[in-house]
Amino acid sequence: MAICKSHGQDSSYFIGWQEYEKNPYHPIRNPSGIIQMGLAENQLSFDLLESWLTRNQDVIQFRENGGSMFRDLALFQDYHGLQAFKNVLVAFMAEIRKKKVKFDPKNLVLTAGSTSANETLIFCLAEPGEALLIPTPYYPGFDRDLKWRTGAEIVPIHCYSSNNFRITESALEEAYEQAQKLNLTVKGVFITNPSNPLGTTMSHDELNILITFAMAKNIHIVSDEIYAGTVFDSPKFISIMEALIDRKLEKSKMWNQVHIVSSLSKDLGLPGFRIGMIYSNNETLIAAATKMSSFGLISSQTQYLLSKILGDRKFIKRYVKENKKQLKHRREMLASGLANSGIECLESNAGLFCFVDMKDLLKSNTFEAEMELWKKIISDVGLNVSPGSSCHCSEPGWFRICFANMSKETLDIAMQRINDFVKSNGNLRRNLQLPSVAAAAGSRRRRTIANWVVKLSSGDGRTDR
Ligand SMILES: Cc1ncc(COP(=O)(O)O)c(C=O)c1O
Repeated sequence: MAICKSHGQDSSYFIGWQEYEKNPYHPIRNPSGIIQMGLAENQLSFDLLESWLTRNQDVIQFRENGGSMFRDLALFQDYHGLQAFKNVLVAFMAEIRKKKVKFDPKNLVLTAGSTSANETLIFCLAEPGEALLIPTPYYPGFDRDLKWRTGAEIVPIHCYSSNNFRITESALEEAYEQAQKLNLTVKGVFITNPSNPLGTTMSHDELNILITFAMAKNIHIVSDEIYAGTVFDSPKFISIMEALIDRKLEKSKMWNQVHIVSSLSKDLGLPGFRIGMIYSNNETLIAAATKMSSFGLISSQTQYLLSKILGDRKFIKRYVKENKKQLKHRREMLASGLANSGIECLESNAGLFCFVDMKDLLKSNTFEAEMELWKKIISDVGLNVSPGSSCHCSEPGWFRICFANMSKETLDIAMQRINDFVKSNGNLRRNLQLPSVAAAAGSRRRRTIANWVVKLSSGDGRTDR
C-alpha cells in the first residue's frame, strides 16, 4: 500500500495545488502570486452561516434548555451517528430534490465526507480487480477514492464534446465490452450528477438510458450527488432515485442496486467539517457500510452543530436560495470574462466551476500540448486551473476553472490576467472581433477564432508533467 502508485497524487490536478501553495496570491502580500482556480470550494455564502452562528451562541457553547451538552457530546458514540442529525439530513436531501423523493434516516450511513462515502461503497460493491464504469470527464479524486485501497478498477465511459459530454447507449456498451476484453467483472456504473467537472445535470433521457443499461446487465448504479444543492439554473436536477420512482421501479431489483452519495462539502461549503453520507435502499449494504463507518466517523460536536443549523428549516431554505443566486452570478462573471477573451465555457447550470474550451490555444491537438499550455497558465499567467486530462477527458484542450472559492475582485484579476495572456499571444482580440459578451456567446467559436493558434514556448520545467 505504501508504494502503490494508484493514489493519483502525481496527477496534474494535485500538482497544480502544490504549485499554488508555493506562491499563493494575496491582494496585498503577494499580488503577483498564483490564483487558486483548481479548488471546488464554495465560499460564497459564508456570511449567512456566520450570522446564523452569531444569532445562536448557545449552540456553539453546547448549551441546551439551560444545561450543557458538552459531556454527552464528548463521550463515546456508536457508529450510527446522532439520530437528530440523520433526521435533519434526510429532510435536507429531500428539500434540495424538491421533495420528489422521500428519504428514510434508516437508510443513511454517515461518513467523513463523500471521499469516505465513495470508498466505503466501493468496498461494499466490488472485490479487488472488479470494475466500475465511469463517464469521462470525471473528478480526479475518484482514482484515489474508488481504486487505491479497494483494489477496484475504473473503466471509462468515453463521452465527447460533440454532444456536450452526454452519456449514450453506445458509449455504455463500449465501456462494458472494454471491461470484458480486460477480463474485468463490471459491478456498476458510477455517475456524478450534477457533474464535476462539467457543471451540468443529467437529463431524464440519460438517466433512463443508464437505468435500462444497469437493469439489463444486472449491475449497480452509484450516483454521487454532492453538488445537488448547487443547481442554480434550468434544466432542473433529477436525482437517480427520482428517475427510478418515475419509472415505478420501487418494487424492482434495481431499487436495491442504486446508491446515492452526498455531502455538505459543496452545498453548504463545509469541506473541513467532513460530513458525508451514503443513502441506499439496500439493507445489506447499509448494514455493512455502517460497520465500516467506524473508520471515518463525523465527530459528535460537528453532528450536533449541523443538526441545529439544518434543523432551522427557514434559514436553510433562505440559504439554499441565496447560495444559488450567488453561484449563478459567479458563473456568469467567469463565462463573460472568458468570452471577452474569446474563450467559451460548456453551457452549465450547476457546480462551482465551468468546463472551459481552450482547444484553440493549443499548439497541436494533443494532450502534450494541453500540458504545455497548463504549465504556461500556472507559471506565466499565475492561475491554477485543472487540465481536462487530469479528469480523464477524452479530448485535449479542456480545463476546469473554479469560480466560487475567491472574492469577486480576485476573479476580476484572474479574468484580466487571462485577457492579457490571450492578447500577448498573437493579438487575438484583433482576430476575435468580439464587440460584446452576448455576441461572443452567440457566435460560433470556430468561425470567429479560426486564426487562434497560439505559439507557446515549452513549459519551464517547474512541474513534473
Ligand atoms: C464529485 C465529488 N465527489 C466527492 C468529492 C469529495 O468531497 P468531500 O469533501 O465530501 O469528501 C468531491 C470533491 O471535490 C467531488 O467533486
